Amino acid sequence: MDDPSATSPQGAGSPEFSIQDFRPQGSIQGPMSSRPLRIVLPGGSGQVGQVLARHFQERGHHVTVLTRGPYTAPWQTVHWDGEHTGPWTEYLEGADVCINLAGRGVNCRYDAANRQAIHDSRIGTTRLLGSVIAGLAEPPRVWLNASTATIYRHAIDRDMDEATGELGGNELISKRRRAPETWNFSVGVAKDWEAAFFEVRTPRTRKVALRSAITLSPTPGSAFAVLSRLVWLSLGGKQGNGRQFVSWIHEADFARAVEFLIAREDLDGPVNVAAPNPLPNREFMAALREAWEMPNGFPAPALAIAIGAFFLRTESELVLKSRRVVPGRLLEAGFEFEFPEWPEAAEDLVRQWRHRND
Ligand SMILES: NC(=O)c1ccc[n+]([C@@H]2O[C@H](COP(=O)([O-])OP(=O)(O)OC[C@H]3O[C@@H](n4cnc5c(N)ncnc54)[C@H](OP(=O)(O)O)[C@@H]3O)[C@@H](O)[C@H]2O)c1
Repeated sequence: MDDPSATSPQGAGSPEFSIQDFRPQGSIQGPMSSRPLRIVLPGGSGQVGQVLARHFQERGHHVTVLTRGPYTAPWQTVHWDGEHTGPWTEYLEGADVCINLAGRGVNCRYDAANRQAIHDSRIGTTRLLGSVIAGLAEPPRVWLNASTATIYRHAIDRDMDEATGELGGNELISKRRRAPETWNFSVGVAKDWEAAFFEVRTPRTRKVALRSAITLSPTPGSAFAVLSRLVWLSLGGKQGNGRQFVSWIHEADFARAVEFLIAREDLDGPVNVAAPNPLPNREFMAALREAWEMPNGFPAPALAIAIGAFFLRTESELVLKSRRVVPGRLLEAGFEFEFPEWPEAAEDLVRQWRHRND
């Protein structure tokens, strides 16, 4: 890990640096930046952070991950504690982009201690970064903060985009049942997280909240790996009644969407980062089985999921809540998905998994 007090960050204060010069590669029109961007990723040591760090480094940008460590990576890593200012703040001075991903993982039981940690690690780091960025002489021109597609209500009936989607919290999920309290907790965290992000005034820094769906990567320990293991064990049938929608995004499109949001100076506020075609869980699992050439899979009824989640120290919300989230603003802005449909995305992820493990 770098000693943050040792050297001044690369490119700080460079007058030629202009985010206007930066145009993403791929489906986006326009020339690539003539100079690399300085991109700082608080909490960038996790699954999503590694996807972004690799993506941006491969494109010649300078990546710095803020970590509580110990964490080593092929890019610069700098220590922070996520709670206090320190020498790490100099890496944000003169940086182009801050992408905050810090937060205690949600794959755990929502007991009192975990709830506190899930909430405080997100709201605390966001407030800390807000106060630091607001006080910089040369703040990043754009700050993207993680949020979540879980902020929307349990939705089977229609798509949730940014303009017409309804936020969740105590909603009716069937004729007589309201959303369980654990679901309300997640929605409450997401609302507080975005409130903490948008409440601080940063007049020279554009802000985008990433309402991300589950990001699927062909790597061990990821959600894709967990779902794939179920398929391999012939347990990859529908979960619950299978009618709940799954919002998802291929990691390549996640990184490209973030790149697009960095480049597009006209976009700010909440943005859904999800593939345009969420689908019911039973179809989602069927396509994953197909991709693995495992046509059959036992279903997991809701009760079995609740019991299994208890023993696995996780929450059934992660599979039973219906997330029907669509990327209204990204599509309107002209973003093109490489993997808009799940069957093709699943095939690609399986192909990559096999290639890595051959
Ligand atoms: N993965 C998804 O599909 C998905 C979907 C929607 C939203 N999100 C959100 O996007 C963010 C990144 O997701 P991810 O999957 O990459 O998460 P992750 O793998 O859990 O990584 C998050 C990072 O946050 C840091 N962290 C953990 N507890 C912390 C604390 N108390 N204070 C400060 N930092 C702490 C950790 O870094 P260090 O230990 O190195 O400090 C960790 O590597 C998360 O906030 C998540 O809620 C993710």
